[in-house]
Amino acid sequence: MSVPMTLAALIDSRRDQHLAELKEFLGIPSVSAKSEHKPDIERAARWVADHLSSAGFPTVEIVPTSLHPLVYAESLNAPGKPTILFYGHYDVQPAEPLHLWTTPPFEPAIRNGNIYGRGTADDKGQVHIHLKALQSLQEFAGKFPINIKILIEGEEEVGSVSLWNFVQKNKEKLQADALVVSDTSMLGKGVPSITYGLRGLNYYQIELTGPERDLHSGVYGGAVPNPLTILSELFAKLHDKNFRVAVPGFYDKIQKLSKVERKALNALPWSRKAFFEAVGAPGYCGEKGFTTVEQIWTRPTLELNGIWGGYQGEGAKTVIPSKAYAKFSTRLVPGQDPARIAKLVEKHIRKLLPKTVKCKFEVLSTGKPWAAPYHAPIFQRAQAALEKGFQKKAVFIREGGSIPFVTQMYDTFKVPCVLIGFGLPDENAHAPDEHLYLENYFSGIKAIAHFYNDLATL
Ligand code: BES
Ligand code: MN
Ligand code: MN
Repeated sequence: MSVPMTLAALIDSRRDQHLAELKEFLGIPSVSAKSEHKPDIERAARWVADHLSSAGFPTVEIVPTSLHPLVYAESLNAPGKPTILFYGHYDVQPAEPLHLWTTPPFEPAIRNGNIYGRGTADDKGQVHIHLKALQSLQEFAGKFPINIKILIEGEEEVGSVSLWNFVQKNKEKLQADALVVSDTSMLGKGVPSITYGLRGLNYYQIELTGPERDLHSGVYGGAVPNPLTILSELFAKLHDKNFRVAVPGFYDKIQKLSKVERKALNALPWSRKAFFEAVGAPGYCGEKGFTTVEQIWTRPTLELNGIWGGYQGEGAKTVIPSKAYAKFSTRLVPGQDPARIAKLVEKHIRKLLPKTVKCKFEVLSTGKPWAAPYHAPIFQRAQAALEKGFQKKAVFIREGGSIPFVTQMYDTFKVPCVLIGFGLPDENAHAPDEHLYLENYFSGIKAIAHFYNDLATL
């Protein structure tokens, strides 16, 4: 007589299939930032939609937007049971610089228990965990235990611009008892984590123009402004000696951490040594008066992300460039209003710049910070499910990254947002050799399947 399989055993028996399918998903170069990848974006959206259908969703749609399509699916056949909205993104960051990858970014490869490729940790691998958990539940019981809505977007890595419009127009459709997201990290290997706070993000670009065209630096140098020098001087003035952002009013209104929260965050099993090792810089700096964990999760920053202009080719070219450019961003924490911060930053930059250059100042995207209490019963269910998948108790953490949709949902519906990350902080998200620890992928499928199953009795 055959023994009925448990849910965990069913999932274990499908490991090879799950992995083969994940590789197929990762093979689609769905880079949202580059228009040349538009066909790949379309292909990835279609891939997600097809797999939602085969996972058992009766309604699946690909929703066109002014940029990249979103995929929406629902299964509302569990009357009286809770409704969960799951959110993730199928788009990925550009893979460049390509020569720093050990194996090509869109040809997933397995080494030392990790799967390597762009999107493994952020976010295709994590989205796939949910697809496979749901499909396993469907296979196990012939139906989903709860009502589920799924929203997978294709613009997360470029600021989720179309999404806000979709949320505003489809409030009823997106209404749920809770939001579930897997697009964050675990505190470390073997420490399942639930994230209850993220920083917000404003992204800026400036263009400085001095001379109306490039000039011979011998013929003109000494008597004209150099926009590259002026740009460098500008950024040198944006922090003080304690690594605080030198924009007046920047810190005004920030909500102070409670003593209890500060203590809890600093007591987490987080290793400063491992953090520094992973970064690998010759030395460290950060805002005075705060621990490293506080600096990366709870303090705002201003970071220069790219700076260019003038000559960068082989050999020498004696030129005074006409223009200089910079891309930079501010990470925001609760209390800071993105629009107000953008104004303060622009005002201060214009004040610091000399009259010898013109400045074009652009705000490319804005996003609010988020931090919310975690006492709703669903958080204990998440903790219990993670314990089933990982044999370890989950901790509650904050993180420094940004996910615009989480704030939008929280502000719109005030529902619990349960962020269960399966990435690790040193898995090279946004960098060459991005990877995902396979044990976290497999344990994640089990944990999420148990989570959705247990929510039937919430
Ligand atoms: N998954 C990340 C966000 C993240 C990373 C949250 C690590 C917590 C820990 C997401 O894909 C991302 O990269 N977001 C961007 C913001 C976006 C507006 C471009 C970010 O944080 O830079
Ligand atoms: Mn992500
Ligand atoms: Mn990302």
